[in-house]
Amino acid sequence: GLPEYIKIVEVGPRDGLQNEKVIVPTDIKIELINRLSKTGLPVVEVTSFVSSKWVPQMADHKEVMRGIERHPGVQYPVLTPNLQGFHSAIAAGATEVSVFGAASESFSKMNINCSIEESIEKFEEVAKSARNMNIPVRGYVSCALGCPYEGNITPAKVAEVSKHLYSMGCYEISLGDTIGVGTPGSMKKMLEAVMKEIPLSALAVHCHDTYGQALANILTAIQMGVSVVDSSVSGLGGCPYAKGATGNVATEDVIYMLNGLGINTLDHIFHLL
Ligand code: HMG
Ligand code: MG
Repeated sequence: GLPEYIKIVEVGPRDGLQNEKVIVPTDIKIELINRLSKTGLPVVEVTSFVSSKWVPQMADHKEVMRGIERHPGVQYPVLTPNLQGFHSAIAAGATEVSVFGAASESFSKMNINCSIEESIEKFEEVAKSARNMNIPVRGYVSCALGCPYEGNITPAKVAEVSKHLYSMGCYEISLGDTIGVGTPGSMKKMLEAVMKEIPLSALAVHCHDTYGQALANILTAIQMGVSVVDSSVSGLGGCPYAKGATGNVATEDVIYMLNGLGINTLDHIFHLL
């Protein structure tokens, strides 16, 4: 049956804003994150500790991380592609990080300027330092349902990269449909392959909505037992290295669907009371 509780990971301040052409002022970003934190969302992804030459919109990562209010019970992960990003993130007060790999060689090269194998080595360094500091690490696998440069990606490749991330200690693996080309059919095949390698409780789906398939893909995933869903307030989002990809699924649409299914999204709050 369906999970009783689904954890929503709000990625709007990061995935949503990274693709905006106009630089959003730092205080507006901070205000957005503070307001999202008060809505009952359990996780709000804050920013990315990446190169400002590559993603200018995230250049104020330190100021944003330092400027936000931390609400009890809310996690505030940030993206860290390598040790340099990890150290700056920790210095700015981050208490959770995410590494982000891909199941496509071409996308890995375009997005983080290295091969999949090289990226795994960098992520292992991050994971090792994080472990020593008791910092939880989340892992993304982009292009899980298709690549803007290579087209089809095999479920076996997604499972292989996911397994690497899980083995190095990532507590959760977020499977990214980076360009929103997946359908319930390809989502099911991909998850069947990944579920053979990773416990269901450690899997998340991250659906972009380019072809209007995101809610259907999410419903497919939760029917298979996935209980973590990434989404973005008002459907903002995209990736600078995935042309044509539109926003993530909208958080409010996911919560509307889950409410309709009788699935709880606020459990973490009751634990605090
Ligand atoms: P690089 O050029 O290969 O790095 O970039 P390098 O190690 O060769 O260093 C070159 C320069 O970058 C040096 O500076 C470093 O200091 C600097 P210089 O001496 O030239 O002035 N540098 C850094 N600066 C800030 N933070 C760092 C860092 N590391 C090195 N962490 C790098 C490699 C990964 C940094 C670069 O390719 C990059 O920033 N890429 C951006 C990736 C990105 O943010 N993509 C969007 C997020 S992923 C996504 O959206 C998908 C997702 O949503 C899931 C899905 O939808 O599928 C997660
Ligand atoms: Mg994304």
